[in-house]
Amino acid sequence: MAVQDGLQSVVASIDAVRRSVAQARLENAVVGLVPTMGALHRGHEELIARARSQCDFVAVSIFVNPLQFGPREDFASYPRTLAEDAAICSKHNVDLIFAPEVGELYGDSRESTRVIPAAALTNRLCGTFRPGHFEGVATVVAKLFNIVGPDRAYFGLKDYQQLQVIRHLVQDLDFPIEIIGVPTVREESGLALSSRNKYLNSEQKELAPALSQTLQALARRVHEEEDVSAILASEKAKLESAGFRVQYLELCHPDSLEPLVSFSGEAVALVAAYLGDVRLIDNLEIDSLKVNR
Ligand code: PAJ
Repeated sequence: MAVQDGLQSVVASIDAVRRSVAQARLENAVVGLVPTMGALHRGHEELIARARSQCDFVAVSIFVNPLQFGPREDFASYPRTLAEDAAICSKHNVDLIFAPEVGELYGDSRESTRVIPAAALTNRLCGTFRPGHFEGVATVVAKLFNIVGPDRAYFGLKDYQQLQVIRHLVQDLDFPIEIIGVPTVREESGLALSSRNKYLNSEQKELAPALSQTLQALARRVHEEEDVSAILASEKAKLESAGFRVQYLELCHPDSLEPLVSFSGEAVALVAAYLGDVRLIDNLEIDSLKVNR
């Protein structure tokens, strides 16, 4: 079922996706979906490879979703590299690439139905700084789930809050889909791969690994020191003096994302910070058994 030529597998219409998945279903295929916004890098490839190893039919969606970008964000300039993306998908024997135009998903209507994720998950961290963002993500992901109807869908831990929003979405709206979280792929330096790393100049690229180093330092310190808010304040100050504008640096419960005032064995540390105009996010799961992941 795998295609040889990446370009042959690119479809833009919902009908074509449905036909292709229905055909695979006739052969009892287990269907996997990897939703992306394109500009594929090794992080995305890890998701695709995981899907390939666990499913008979793998669909990758490539769609820069306007609904999840704020008015002053980078929707217009977000990298669009469909030919390169298709070649990467082809390398991984992806069966179907769904790359729709905006109109195919949202029609002409200015206001369409939206999916609103639970506020408890979205009124913090990135949700505070990107109003409407998770509503846009939940809406497009719900649409993709309805269009493709996968058995499994693959998301990166890199976007930790997004992954939790989607896990809850699937549970709350009864999508019969298994959500697979895939660990963050990093550069040698520790910098988490991201499509937005392309925007970093060489000086910023050198500074950027400090984000993941901060999370590692935090993971060590919560095992040694009591006062979580003091640790967060001092690590945040270090980042600021290195040249970052920090939006948040928090220690949270791994499922609820409630902020933690003390560490009792399980947590996730999350950070968002600007280097110049480039917004970077990262996170690290911390548990008392694995200190130096
Ligand atoms: P995008 O940023 O293209 O990411 C697509 C998927 O790749 C997400 O699940 C993201 O967490 C994962 N990913 C990105 N960088 C990664 C890395 N370094 N290691 C592992 N996984 C990584 O996230 C989105 O698109 C959109 O919000 C989307 C879910 C497609 C909805 O529009």
